Amino acid sequence: MMERKKIFDTKLIRANDEDGLKDAAKALSEGRVVGFPTETVYGLGADALNPEAVSRIFEAKGRPGDNPLIVHIWDKSQISELVSEVTPAAQALIDAFMPGPITVIMKKKDVVPSEVTAGLDTVGIRMPSHPLCNKFLKMCGCPVAAPSANLSGSPSPTTALHVMNDMDGYVYAVIDGGPCDVGLESTVVDATGEVPVILRPGAVTSAMIDEALKTHSEYAGALQKGQVPASPGMKYRHYAPGCEVKIITLPENIGQIDPHAEDLTDEQKQKLFAIASPFLLEAQKILKDNPAARIGIFAGSEVKELAEMAGDDILSAHLNFCVYGNTCDVEAASHKLFDGLRLLDRQEVDIILAAGFKGDDLEVAYMNRLSKAAGKSGDDVPSKAYEDIDEGMSEIPLDLFENVFTASVLFISDDDGNLGAITEGIFTDLLRRKGPFCSCEDEKVGAELYAESAGLFVIEGTSPDENACKAYSQIMDGTIVHHMARRAEVSVFDANDLILTINDSQAFELISNFPELDGRVFSLSSYMASKGLVMKGEDGSIASVSINDPAGEDLFTYKHTVLALKAWLEILFPYIIKDLGAMRFC
Ligand code: TXA
Ligand code: MG
Repeated sequence: MMERKKIFDTKLIRANDEDGLKDAAKALSEGRVVGFPTETVYGLGADALNPEAVSRIFEAKGRPGDNPLIVHIWDKSQISELVSEVTPAAQALIDAFMPGPITVIMKKKDVVPSEVTAGLDTVGIRMPSHPLCNKFLKMCGCPVAAPSANLSGSPSPTTALHVMNDMDGYVYAVIDGGPCDVGLESTVVDATGEVPVILRPGAVTSAMIDEALKTHSEYAGALQKGQVPASPGMKYRHYAPGCEVKIITLPENIGQIDPHAEDLTDEQKQKLFAIASPFLLEAQKILKDNPAARIGIFAGSEVKELAEMAGDDILSAHLNFCVYGNTCDVEAASHKLFDGLRLLDRQEVDIILAAGFKGDDLEVAYMNRLSKAAGKSGDDVPSKAYEDIDEGMSEIPLDLFENVFTASVLFISDDDGNLGAITEGIFTDLLRRKGPFCSCEDEKVGAELYAESAGLFVIEGTSPDENACKAYSQIMDGTIVHHMARRAEVSVFDANDLILTINDSQAFELISNFPELDGRVFSLSSYMASKGLVMKGEDGSIASVSINDPAGEDLFTYKHTVLALKAWLEILFPYIIKDLGAMRFC
């Protein structure tokens, strides 16, 4: 990974902001890098005829310079300025599919710098069909070299938000054209010879090419060991989220089934079961080995609905769904794939189970991307690349969110002295380090999360013990000296969404005094049990989270308490966030 320098206050430009578009186009023509939408995925563009500008794309992407960029145009008349030979095959492809999701590789002219083509004597030309994109390209007035606008090694971006997540601070501006229609990158076709060779499958399928050209195109296929890649991009493991991805291949010809329909035929019931059960069985298998596993599922609505109908609460607590539409809809799956991988990754799942398709059309492109996300081999991209930006406090421009909701968790202890201050402190620290957050349902809605504490038997305003403060600051590198004890009462409960007590008797006490809180109150132990996170002692008995207030003990005991609470809260963190209706923003 190349070193990335954060240099810009990246501007997010809305589609209807004429002045913003003009400003971004001017910046691009003067050598800056700008993210822009296309119908396939977002691109990261620079003036294709300016080698210095092109090198800035590689810096922003953290991508090695040995991978050629494709050149984007807004008018077919530009082709003759960039290309020295248009073969009959190339001409036929241009006539049939431009503008559209295709990149045609042709012999280049000298004006195209070798920085763009990574030293090759060919250049990929693409004319997108996205109206805002073409308007912007025309405003730039130069051919625009652009790879997909993701960080090297992470899934291609299909929304402006994805681009901001990866590129904020590294490029001049990002133009927001809404979610990309296709969702997978263009079909790359080498048309320098007589027979077109498909280097990367996309929405323009081999059947469409064969039909238009009345020939049989070739498919370069997957790279064999030791083989020199025809398209240098083929050697990288692209599109990878931070966690493992496992493909669950769907049965063929499943059609569309509404699981709620009352008159399902036996055949339809069987099909439904055949679609959904492999996901759920696999999830159960994973949980058997690792009861704390968080499992992402990228599948059709039938799978989610069947999981809900199965009514297994513990299994459900571990499942994070990203539904793309009807199970059999490969177009919808393609449209949502990269977004889904990013989304589930942010929900901190350990593994993603993703629907796989059999078929010869768009299925080929979809499976090509999904297999790469699932692939373990040929990983030339440092796998840390994606995680690096996922950790730490990212500064996200707040205007990305259309609105913001707040949600909070309340920790209850006996006197809200030491334990209250410590839990609130640890959880607040986790929120700060893992944030920002957005709504699970809509990432345009930000989530402001916080933690509070209160006690059942409190002398209001008491502060934590000196040893508690010392232990906390040594382990957490923060302070709780300002914490003031507060009584647990109705106004406090009303202000919080989830209530967690340190031990079981406090939960019992709360619910017997305030029956209306039932369902919102858990002890740490019962909360873990509700998620199936049951810890067994050596004798096989079920262990519960047992933490006592170390009041009056030595510093060592306090430190032990802080460490124990930290460990429990780190395990519970993703579950609590999900119950608050939120997920990590990036
Ligand atoms: O849909 C798309 O194609 C998007 C949007 C932004 O236009 N762009 C895109 O660019 O996906 P990129 O750089 O992520 O992928 C371009 C692919 C790479 O695999 C690269 O190796 C290949 O095209 N390529 C580019 N020029 C080539 C050439 N002259 N010969 C062979 N392969 C080439
Ligand atoms: Mg790419």
